[in-house]
Amino acid sequence: PATATLDDDGVLRLGGLRVDELADRFGTPTFLLDEDDFRARARAWRAGFPDGDVYYAGKAFLCRAVARWVAQEGLSLDVCTGGELAVAASVGFPPERLLFHGNNKSVEELSRAVAHGVGRIVLDSFVEIDRLAGIARAAGIRQRVLIRVTPGVEAHTHEYIATGQEDQKFGFSLASGAATAAVGQVLGAADALELVGLHAHIGSQIFDTAGFGLAAHRMVGLLVTVRDEHGVELPELDLGGGLGIAYTGEDAPLAVEEVADRLHTIVGKECAGAGLAVPRLAVEPGRAMVGPTTVTLYRVGTVKELPGLRTYVSVDGGMSDNIRTALYDARYTARLVSRPGSAEHHVVTLVGRHCESGDVVAHDVPLPADVAPGDLVAVPATGAYHRSMASNYNHVGRPPVVAVRAGAARVIVRRETEDDLLRLDVDDVDDVDGAA
Ligand code: LLP
Repeated sequence: PATATLDDDGVLRLGGLRVDELADRFGTPTFLLDEDDFRARARAWRAGFPDGDVYYAGKAFLCRAVARWVAQEGLSLDVCTGGELAVAASVGFPPERLLFHGNNKSVEELSRAVAHGVGRIVLDSFVEIDRLAGIARAAGIRQRVLIRVTPGVEAHTHEYIATGQEDQKFGFSLASGAATAAVGQVLGAADALELVGLHAHIGSQIFDTAGFGLAAHRMVGLLVTVRDEHGVELPELDLGGGLGIAYTGEDAPLAVEEVADRLHTIVGKECAGAGLAVPRLAVEPGRAMVGPTTVTLYRVGTVKELPGLRTYVSVDGGMSDNIRTALYDARYTARLVSRPGSAEHHVVTLVGRHCESGDVVAHDVPLPADVAPGDLVAVPATGAYHRSMASNYNHVGRPPVVAVRAGAARVIVRRETEDDLLRLDVDDVDDVDGAA
């Protein structure tokens, strides 16, 4: 985060606050989120698209406080479930600034979104076009919609998070003609659906502008086809999220300004060439907004040296708060943050407390050779897809999120307790003998 400093005493400060004191106050593991950094990133995105819309992708991390910050900074919000919609609704997020995604939104979710006044719903299948048209008609509402298109762009990222290629569950493919057919079907339901534009999201954790540029090029091409075949100029083009962040020193992320500039240039040039009015651009950053704002603070529990093999340093969290290492073979850094530690460093494997050997937080990270139980270790860049993908594996409560701002820290999502978990068990019988 922007305001993190590591002082000579070896103690990490966030917004001027010592992490050893934060650990005493809030326990570990804990997600420490730098609110000023989040707001600064939100403003940078806003500035990059002054005439467009920036939808923060709530799937990266959403809670009531974050929804409020997003609204306050003038951004819009991308939700992809009724649950995320409920968070937005609970803080009175302006409904017209909501965009609703998903390849299998339920009838109940769509009905709720329409009744709530969600600004845009992104249509993802032929089934859904009819479904939503019926719901909107019955509600007497003309719902604004976008059509999600898969532009056939291979994003250079992990296959689980690449979404631009043809063979996948999202959207309507461009190459097969499904996208133009979808446009026809939506225009045919114009009494219930107002088609305002097209959407494409090619993947996540992307480091070069080529993929974004190619997607933009193809999407403008589709806008031209729509005009030529249907005589309508669609006013909006949403190019999704996907901008990568640095997890380790090897990652070289693009700046927001660079991406914004690239997209505006390509879309502007191609529209001019085709005699098309330049559409209002939208983007949906998730990771790049919240990922770098957060560090996970862990306490070391055990250190196990296997001579000639490796050293395992175990912390009090693991795959329940960071599934990305196991799921995507993601790379992280880690550092001792409660004291300077020895100058000599050893490369260790940072593992969690869960009952499986795949429970790795960070592979091959250098830590001071004298790292010991009780030390605090921080793993940076854990704001996106960590708390939001956290689990209760092994009946572990999910960590809290603590927001740090202007020298003050406050819990914005509290720690889950054993009581929270036990409360879900439905069982009238109180003991093993079956007595009530
Ligand atoms: N828009 C749509 C339609 C999306 O599907 C996504 C992410 C985003 C925007 C935001 O993308 P971002 O800017 O965060 O890259 N769990 C994975 C990432 C999954 C991304 C899913 N969709 C991970 O931890 O890497």
